[in-house]
Formats: sequence, C-alpha cells, structure tokens
Amino acid sequence: MNNISKLLLKLIIIVLLSSYNIYNVTKKMPYEKKLISPSAKIELPELKDGYNKKHLNFLRESAAECTLFLNKNEEFPINNPGSVLLLGYGARNTIKGGTGSGDVVSKFTTFEEGLESVGFKITTKNWLNQEKYPLSKEHNTVKADIAIYVLSRNSGEGMDREISKGDVLLTDEEINDILFLNKNYKKFMLVLNTCGVVDLSPVSKVSNILLISQLGSVVGDILGDIILGKSNPSGKLATTWTKIEDYTFIYEFGDNDDTNYIEGVYVGYRFFNSVGIKPLYPFGFGKSYTLFDISKISLTNAKDKINIKVKVKNIGKFPGKEVIQVYVSPSQNNENKPYQSLVSFKKTPNINPSDGIELDLSFKLKSIARYDVKKASYILDKGNYIIRVGNSSEDTKIYGYIELDEDITTEILKNINSGYSTGFKDFNPKIILKDEIKNVQKIKLTKNDFELKKVDYNYEANINKDLLKIKDSDLAYLCIGDFSDIDERLSGIGGLTAKNVKGIKNYIRMADGPAGLRLTNYLDNKNSQAYTTAIPIATALAQTFNTDLLEKIGDLIASEMDIYNIQLWLAPALNIHRNILCGRNFEYFSEDPLISGKMAAALTRGVQSHKNRGTTIKHLTANNQETKKYNNNSNMSERTLREIYLKGFQIAIEDTQPSAVMTSYNLLNGMHTSENKDLLINVVRNEWNFKGLIMSDWSMSELNELGEKYRKQNIFGIIKGGNNIMMPGSDIDYSILINKLSEKLITRDDLLHCASKVYETIELLNK
Ligand code: BGC
Repeated sequence: MNNISKLLLKLIIIVLLSSYNIYNVTKKMPYEKKLISPSAKIELPELKDGYNKKHLNFLRESAAECTLFLNKNEEFPINNPGSVLLLGYGARNTIKGGTGSGDVVSKFTTFEEGLESVGFKITTKNWLNQEKYPLSKEHNTVKADIAIYVLSRNSGEGMDREISKGDVLLTDEEINDILFLNKNYKKFMLVLNTCGVVDLSPVSKVSNILLISQLGSVVGDILGDIILGKSNPSGKLATTWTKIEDYTFIYEFGDNDDTNYIEGVYVGYRFFNSVGIKPLYPFGFGKSYTLFDISKISLTNAKDKINIKVKVKNIGKFPGKEVIQVYVSPSQNNENKPYQSLVSFKKTPNINPSDGIELDLSFKLKSIARYDVKKASYILDKGNYIIRVGNSSEDTKIYGYIELDEDITTEILKNINSGYSTGFKDFNPKIILKDEIKNVQKIKLTKNDFELKKVDYNYEANINKDLLKIKDSDLAYLCIGDFSDIDERLSGIGGLTAKNVKGIKNYIRMADGPAGLRLTNYLDNKNSQAYTTAIPIATALAQTFNTDLLEKIGDLIASEMDIYNIQLWLAPALNIHRNILCGRNFEYFSEDPLISGKMAAALTRGVQSHKNRGTTIKHLTANNQETKKYNNNSNMSERTLREIYLKGFQIAIEDTQPSAVMTSYNLLNGMHTSENKDLLINVVRNEWNFKGLIMSDWSMSELNELGEKYRKQNIFGIIKGGNNIMMPGSDIDYSILINKLSEKLITRDDLLHCASKVYETIELLNK
C-alpha cells in the first residue's frame, strides 16, 4: 500500500470512529499497531453448520411469549391462511429492534415475508410497492379474508422520543385507517411493532390489538403463527400503557443539566395505582387466546419468607401459559408507600384446556421495606401488609395479610453522597387502602422472624502479586481499554482490554448488546457478512415474565460468543422505564425493579453457564434519558435511588454475580456514577458483595466544553472513584494518567488496585 492510500485509509478510520463516539486519535500510541484494511478478510472459526438456524427456530418457537393482546375478540385465530389486506408502514418496513449500540447486524423477516411464507396471499402488493401511505380509496373495495394494519415506531441511542404525531401519538392518517379497517373488517388486527408506549386512546376500541413488539430476527415469522393459532401470545405488560394525559410527570424529563426525579418512588404502576388513575392497559396485563382460573391452595411462612401455592387451570379453548403475579400493599402507618409493589412472579408451563397445575411462589417481606434516609436503614413499618395474587396489577385477589406489631429495621446502611439534598420534596400522595381484610388469613410476624443485615464497609481492593513487577506505564495501560487496536474495533468489537502488555498474555474481547451480539463488520470465511442472531428487544423479553426462557436465550447468546471468542457481552441493560420518552427504553426491561433485576439475572445465568463468558450489567444507574446523556444530572432522593434505581442491579448481582458492571454516563446527585466511591465501593462492593469488574461507559477525555454546567466523566475521576477501567479510553487518557502519576495525584497503588481487577477478570475469562 502506498503512502497516499495509507493516509486515505487512516482518514476513513478516523471518520468511522468519530461517528461512533470515538475520538480523533492523534497522539502516539504506547504500542505500535499495524493497521489492517477494514475490508480484509478476518479468519473466523468454522461456523458450525446451521447454528444460526437452530437459534432462529428456537426463537420462533418461543417468541410469542413476548407478545400479548391488548384487546381481543373471538375472530382470531383462523384455521387456514387465506387472503390478507396488509397495510401500514411497518408491513414491509418492519422494525426488528431499535438503533444505536443496541442494534445488531442480523437478517430478519418482515411481516410481509412472514405472512407469505406461511401461505397468506397479500392483496395489497400494489399498495405496498407504491408505498402509498395513507390508505388509498382503492382498498375500500379490495376485500380479503382478514385485514392487518402494522403500526411501527423506532427509537435509539442518542435521541429521546417526542410527544408528537408519528411518535408517541398516532397520526391522523393512522387513526383514520385503523378505524376504517376495524369498522369494515370482521377479522381485523392492529399489530404494534413499536419500541415502546404509543398513546392508543383514539383506537382503544379496536377489537383486536396485538403487541408484537420488536422480536429481532424472527419478528415477521411470528405473526403468521399467531394468526393461525400455532403460537399463543402469553406475555404481560412490563410497563404500563396509557394515554398521554395520565403521565402526570412526563415533562419532568429531558432537562439539559438537571433532571429532577420529583415523582420519587412513584414510577409506572406505583404511581397510577397510588393516585387512582386507571390506565388503558395496566402493568402485568395481557390477553391470550385462552383464559385461566387462579385459586389459592395455601399461604404459609417460614419466618419472614412467605410461600404461596396456587392452582392454575386453563378454562379456555387453547393451550397456553399464564403469569402469576404477587403484589403487596404495605402498611401506610408512617411515611407513605406505593399502593402496591410486585414481590414475586412466575410463568406456568404450557397448560392444555381443562388441565390445571400447581405452582409455588415465594417472597421475603423485607424486599418491600422502606428506605429511611434519616436512619440510613430499611424499615418495615408496623401495620398490615396485604398479599394480592392475580394475573395483572389490576386483577388480583387478596390471599391474606401479614401483621407487624412494631417497626422492624431490616438493614442498617450508609447513605450515598451523605447529606445530599435534591432541593425538592418527593411527590407524596395520600394513599388510601380500602380493602376489607377481616375474613382473610393472617400471618403474624415479629422481630424474631427477621435477620438484621449489617454491612461491613471495609472493602479493600486486592493487589495481585503477578502485577508487582509490572511497570507503572503498563499498569496505566491496563486501566484503559485497548484504544490503539483499531483493526479489531472495525470488526465491530465493542472494546478490548489492553493487549500486548508485557507479562500478560490474555485480554478480553467485548461485544455490545443487548439485542444479540453486535459484530458489525465481521466477514466470514467466504468473505461475506457473518450474521449473529438478533433476539427480541429487552422490553419484549421482560414481557415473557419467563426467567427460564431468558436463561435459555442467555445460553443462545453465549454459544455465539463461543464462536466469535467474545468473553464479555456488554448487556443486559436494566435501566428503569422511568419515562416513556426515553429513547433507549427498548433496550431496558421494565418500569419495575424486580422484573428488571430478575430478567438480567436470568440472562446472566444463561451466558455464564458457558466457560469464559460473562455479562456486563449496565448502566449503573439512572441512565434514563438520552438528552445530554454524557453530562446530565439525575437528581433524586436517596429513598428513590435505593428503592427504584439501584434495586434491579442489586438483585442481579446478588442472584448471579455477573462478570462486570458498566457505570452510566450521567451524573447522580451531582457526581458521575463512574466516579462515585460511595456508590461503587460502599454500595456495589460492600453492600452487594460484587466481585467482578467495574467499567465505565464508552468515552474518552475531551476538550473542556465551555458553558456546560457539568463536565463529562474523566479518567482521573474514574480511577480515583472505585471504577476499575475506563472504556475504551484514548491515548490522551493514557497521557493524563501518566501525568497525574508524576504529579502524585494518582499513586502506583491506585493503578495496582484497578489493574488487578482488570487482570483477574482477564484470567477468569481466559481459562
Ligand atoms: C452505550 C453502551 C455501549 C457502549 C459500547 C455506549 O455509547 O451507552 O451501552 O455498551 O456504547 O458500544
């Protein structure tokens, strides 16, 4: 290659990298790297024949669990494929998942292709070819056996959604077309291929509304299976869907500097239930082709662990699965608490009509203790705790209640950023429990039934003796991602730990998620793009309420990690659906921390059942908007932080010890999460006992931005703040680190602490 083409290549690389938030790397790198042409063939291990097909088949068989009917009459399913009037932009321009780092390069079927492949004849080919939207007059006359309208919405990293027609709101054409079809077709189904909530109030009377979501590679295949009754939707909403006016706090979002979480712990159903708003489609709700009867067998306890046995009987005509949900309405004696919180859930196996099964669920009452900021403790206030069981947050029966005669402290902790004041009072609605609990079973618990958790706040970062002989500059290099390895990045690897450090032979290869393995430019042995499987978006995965299924999907991901030799998956992402406008909600599971934590744990279990494979749960924490994401301050009370925004991470870590945690871009109460020692050492290490690697979200040191209220995270704060590695970092970060070392602002011990954790994780994942 002559000099000019080398220069051209370098230019192309720089443009590509900067389009992915990666900086113009100009300074000399600590290790010289030979750049390879981005079009060069990368040798892959031989792909096992059909591995991808097996994965696609598995997803096709199970993905209906992600879907649910919001409305349904008896017109579906139909027995045989016939003619279909297929309309809506998403019919051909189907969305498999959102954009940004949560995207995956993968083939997928559109709804048009999927319906044709199971034998449907599409009568609207002309219309689809001409891409004439809205519905033209011609279709007033073209009749078909059934009509389907696909409504799509997309979103992604870097941009939030808007309350505008075409995004959260329906356009006038969409409303007209949908209502027209609903009126004129006995068998009409509105299919929602959306990234998140859309205000459906103008079409809420439509007889059949299927929330199919965005199901990755098999998105288009599922629809035909559902219409023909070969698959039965069995999902439930993991986030409330309602009309825009119901979201009282929707505008407490998207500030450029400080976003005030003034709704406090009243997020999603916790808000709607507490203030008496009846949502269009409540949390936990979803219809399938069949119906179930849920009845109580027993309610018992072993100390503070409550066990519930139920009988679930299929009383409809189709085989199907049901989700049993347990909610607790806590005592409102002292400080108020949400009307109810989900404390346990379980999905049944497939049950045939007239058959029934027994199912065991359990929870610990302390899981809904209130965090008292003044006492820095979790407290169960004395009074009654009502146990509700059902198949939706709005459809439960009272199975009994727990009585506490005194206040019980369940954990004594330390506040984070102690003394921090948000400058506002959290929303504090008056909650009235009107339930009659006289004739229901009572469980009386006393202090002796609870174990008080006390935390030892003495975490000492380990120093690995293998690193004692490594020189400072190499240790510094280990504390930053391998910013110099441009060739592998172009292959779509999310990042690497430092390669070529003398004395350390291994490193970690990371690929992005959560919608599968993001390997953008991989070429297979025949020089064509190698595709990984796109799994359903996280919101759709959560809708399964099926942790066993998610474990299997984790296993699927890890078997692709095996093929590409990726050690760390940069997923799952479990930020809370605080606001329906967050552009990355599709990457996240739910508005509820229990669901988020359990789903992240299940995926982790699946991935980590493979040797040398690990997950990276992200983004710790309160990364709930894309507007000014690098330096926006999520401002909230400690109670809100603990009860809502940390809880899912805690569950995932305590259940499964993921290999890594990724901090978030945003600040939390005035301090970057990635630089916050209270959060990373006191909470993550000491309180949760996390053993793995803590890494930053993707950034590099940048020039000071004039006029910004908050700076972005930086290498100095990251190394000092209990984080272990700045990803991916740059040679500028490396120079900063070396300078801070010579100024004695960073010590060799600081580097040894971080580098030891990086090194130990490398060794753990390269056995
Ligand atoms: C995203 C992370 C992602 C990382 C690496 C960042 O912009 O916030 O979720 O893992 O890029 O691609």
